[in-house]
Amino acid sequence: MATGLKLPGQSGDKGAVLSSLLNDDCLLIGFPDYREAAQRLATAAGIPYANALIHHFPDGETRLRLPDSLPESVVLCQTLDHPNSKLVELALAAATARNLGAKHITLIAPYLCYMRQDKAFHPGEAVSQHIIGTLLSQWIDALITVDSHLHRVHQLKDAVPVNPAINLNATTVMSAFLGEQLDNPFLVGPDEESKQWVAAIARDSDFDYCVARKERFGDQQVRVSLPKADYRNRDIVLVDDVASTGRTLEEATLGLARFEPASISVLVTHALFVGDAQERLRRAGVSHIWSTDAIPHSSNALHLDRLLAEALSEYRYPRR
Ligand code: R5P
Repeated sequence: MATGLKLPGQSGDKGAVLSSLLNDDCLLIGFPDYREAAQRLATAAGIPYANALIHHFPDGETRLRLPDSLPESVVLCQTLDHPNSKLVELALAAATARNLGAKHITLIAPYLCYMRQDKAFHPGEAVSQHIIGTLLSQWIDALITVDSHLHRVHQLKDAVPVNPAINLNATTVMSAFLGEQLDNPFLVGPDEESKQWVAAIARDSDFDYCVARKERFGDQQVRVSLPKADYRNRDIVLVDDVASTGRTLEEATLGLARFEPASISVLVTHALFVGDAQERLRRAGVSHIWSTDAIPHSSNALHLDRLLAEALSEYRYPRR
């Protein structure tokens, strides 16, 4: 494969797309809205990096361009928030990579979309998890993601049938981070599903934790019932996999605030924070909002590059 390949016409960083190829057997390709994290990952994994060049035509269609010669192994790194347009970009990238010589495509999607609809809750509803998972499996050979929202379908490979389908936990990164931020935090999971993450972080660092119960009545309506515990004067950290509307964390915060804790912070893997979610959390009394860089967001405080690089290298060079 040629070194120093240049793709002209890219806004922002014209010039060398593949500056120095340290390793000819694999290339990691990043997409515009996940470029910084993808570059960090390529550096951590010691894999050469290139940009996917994307242009949006005025009518909303996408033009995509990859380096014109690819190695056999390609890693596409794109996180899948705002999924409808990103899935089209991914389809274009995977098919183009195959046309350009890629024989094996790994997708690193730290946030994996369309995981919540894992069954038809009402007659006639699309089971989106299965449909999108099957589509992905036609484009890629392997998948690495983080804290994927698996509920009734327990294994990632049953949602996205590729091999391997690796679902990493950000909990080790989170427990190290919290240990640096707070002396003796009290972790609270806002619903039963969050127990897996809260309990793992607490176990790693010997933190106290408890888990609340949540009832959801609609996209924006939830009720969170807190268990009895001594919250007063504690530094509380609400931990969840994803914050979308932020209603779950907001309700939990309003409930906790009545017990006069020393502080309430929020830590999530996936910072969707749609609309005014962050402002509402601040108004409810949250002092820190922290997230991993699984989705680029102003609250990003934890990088997942090492976690992802380790998974990638173990999978490419399995230890026996
Ligand atoms: C649900 O089970 C998830 O773990 C999150 O609690 C949920 O997706 C958060 O959604 P929202 O921020 O819209 O309340």
